[in-house]
Amino acid sequence: MWRLTLGAACCLAVVLGALAGDPPQPAENPKAAEVPKPAEIPKPAEIPKPADTPAANQTLAKITDSSSSNTTANATAAAAPTQDDVICKLCVCDEVHKLVNCSDKDLTHHFPDPSHWTALPFEPKVVLFDRNNLVHLLPFPTLDALETLSLSHNHISKVDNRAFWNLTNVQEIDLSHNHLTSEDMSPHIFEGHYAPENYEPLERLRVLRLGSNALHTLDPDLFMHLPHLEELYLDANPFKVIDLHTHQAVSGLLGLRVLDLSRTGVAALPDHFLHTPNKLQRLLLAGNAFTAPPPGLAESHVLQYLDLSENPFTVLSEPMPRMDNLTTLVISHSANLTEIGAAVFATLPSLTELYLHSNPRLSKINASSLVEPIVPPAETHVYPPLKKLHLHDNALSYLESMLVGRWDHLESLRLDGNPWSCDCENQWMVDDLLPTMERVDPKFGAGLMCSEPVEMRGQAMLRLQGVHYHMRCLDRYGNHPERDAPILVGVLVGVLIAAPLTLALVMLWRRCSALPSVPGPVWSGLVRSRKRGGEYSSAFYKPADTEPDFI
Ligand SMILES: *[C@@H]1O[C@H](CO)[C@@H](O)[C@H](O)[C@H]1NC(C)=O
Ligand SMILES: *[C@@H]1O[C@H](CO)[C@@H](O)[C@H](O)[C@H]1NC(C)=O
Ligand SMILES: *[C@@H]1O[C@H](CO)[C@@H](O)[C@H](O)[C@H]1NC(C)=O
Ligand SMILES: *[C@@H]1O[C@H](CO)[C@@H](O)[C@H](O)[C@H]1NC(C)=O
Ligand SMILES: *[C@@H]1O[C@H](CO)[C@@H](O)[C@H](O)[C@H]1NC(C)=O
Ligand SMILES: *[C@@H]1O[C@H](CO)[C@@H](O)[C@H](O)[C@H]1NC(C)=O
Ligand SMILES: *[C@@H]1O[C@H](CO)[C@@H](O)[C@H](O)[C@H]1NC(C)=O
Ligand SMILES: *[C@@H]1O[C@H](CO)[C@@H](O)[C@H](O)[C@H]1NC(C)=O
Repeated sequence: MWRLTLGAACCLAVVLGALAGDPPQPAENPKAAEVPKPAEIPKPAEIPKPADTPAANQTLAKITDSSSSNTTANATAAAAPTQDDVICKLCVCDEVHKLVNCSDKDLTHHFPDPSHWTALPFEPKVVLFDRNNLVHLLPFPTLDALETLSLSHNHISKVDNRAFWNLTNVQEIDLSHNHLTSEDMSPHIFEGHYAPENYEPLERLRVLRLGSNALHTLDPDLFMHLPHLEELYLDANPFKVIDLHTHQAVSGLLGLRVLDLSRTGVAALPDHFLHTPNKLQRLLLAGNAFTAPPPGLAESHVLQYLDLSENPFTVLSEPMPRMDNLTTLVISHSANLTEIGAAVFATLPSLTELYLHSNPRLSKINASSLVEPIVPPAETHVYPPLKKLHLHDNALSYLESMLVGRWDHLESLRLDGNPWSCDCENQWMVDDLLPTMERVDPKFGAGLMCSEPVEMRGQAMLRLQGVHYHMRCLDRYGNHPERDAPILVGVLVGVLIAAPLTLALVMLWRRCSALPSVPGPVWSGLVRSRKRGGEYSSAFYKPADTEPDFI
């Protein structure tokens, strides 16, 4: 009986030891999955416009700034509706900012009658018809001062030819969040004044927002009357593929600087898609079906900003297409991205901002992700001039100190929301990185918590730094050598006690079996249980089989 119990105890100890020695599972980080979209990544709409496109931003900024101040109230009072001033009776007219705000008025028309507009006490620069019930856009009357026309969040499914013909100075048109289909979008919509040989284009239109409609292709000539378009937003349309016609339409935009193709379902860029728009600076490809960064990116000329978030990447192992001018790369919210290999970003020599965060399974970033392998005669790695590195809310447990050339040159580093392992491999984070980064950002250490090993879970790295804590080393299976000792001692003690006991029992049994006439129930019970014990042990613990040698 004793032997059985001890055998089982030994087995248990061994099993426990094996369990404790299991390599740590790549810890899932449930928190990361719930983290709301980060605020610091500029959404397409919030992206600061390039310096040479200030108008829209200035106009809207001014309006927002003073919307609650007394100037506006004064201005509105000044623009009090006159007898036939229908528009200002219904909408908010702001003379100071030359704004007519007809948003949220349940309108089914946009005052197509020119007399409504001539009655205005000022010439509007900004006209807003957001969130109404417009379905059909009729040609707008002459509004020579108009720069911004917003018609988003309506039900527009028909736009008349020459709808904007008389808006000769319009710079930005927002038709996003409507029901426009490819068939509705004819080049004639954007026709400008007729001149003897040709249509005069809508010369000043620079920003066109067509996001969140029902477009699956574009007429190849759609933008022929918009020669100076700089920003084209086609996001959240069901394109699925960029067909030849769409390609031609976009290729014609020689001045294009911003192209938003987010959430369009595309999995590839056509060959040479980025070759013609050679001024393209920002390309947004988030929320698509790319399984790897599209090779065509290498054809872009001066691309500076690239968003590849929310694509079905799993492992990024190949270097990105070469982009000499790329300064900002965003790869976030990629649910299945687990690993970034060596030299993946080495092809981006101008990279200054890398936003690689909120990827709930991203657990490995190779130490050489940002650099080419050293090729003699070069002796040191050439790092990109990184200033911002955001790695928060991933599943990282280790950070390689060689990942960045000069951590002290970073202006912004985020590492919070990762299941950091607090063992000696990350000691440098506590000893070197924390003090360095706290000089840049006093709040840097706040979210850095240990998840592994078990005894360190929930510790703040900041506290470890405070007490100059020396973190232990894990062996190569992630075991805890220091915990093996008690287990070994336990096993040893067990064996030491078991051996003499077994011997004694065997002797006893031999002596008893030598007495022929006493096959008592006690002994038969012992024999049976011994057998069972033997079977039990051999399944888990081979050496048990060899014990009969004692006999
Ligand atoms: C407008 O854009 C310019 C750069 O083009 C920027 O410096 C300025 O801060 C912007 N203004 C606002 C209010 O966003
Ligand atoms: C603005 O108006 C509010 C109330 O309408 C008033 O309390 C406040 O003093 C005014 N501010 C200025 C600078 O006139
Ligand atoms: C606001 O209105 C008052 C009276 O109507 C006027 O005296 C004042 O100059 C106006 N202020 C502005 C900034 O228009
Ligand atoms: C226009 O009006 C809507 C609704 O009244 C309001 O939410 C919006 O902020 C206004 N826009 C501007 C630029 O004043
Ligand atoms: C443009 O305005 C003129 C004068 O207001 C008008 O006669 C003409 O019909 C308008 N064109 C369109 C296409 O609405
Ligand atoms: C991640 O992978 C799973 C299983 O392969 C798949 O069902 C899911 O759609 C993928 N998610 C993304 C965002 O690619
Ligand atoms: C793009 O990069 C090339 C090579 O690094 C450089 O010569 C050029 O000036 C850059 N162009 C812009 C617009 O930054
Ligand atoms: C990083 O990549 C290099 C080159 O592919 C490889 O030798 C190394 O093992 C990788 N490091 C890790 C930690 O995977």
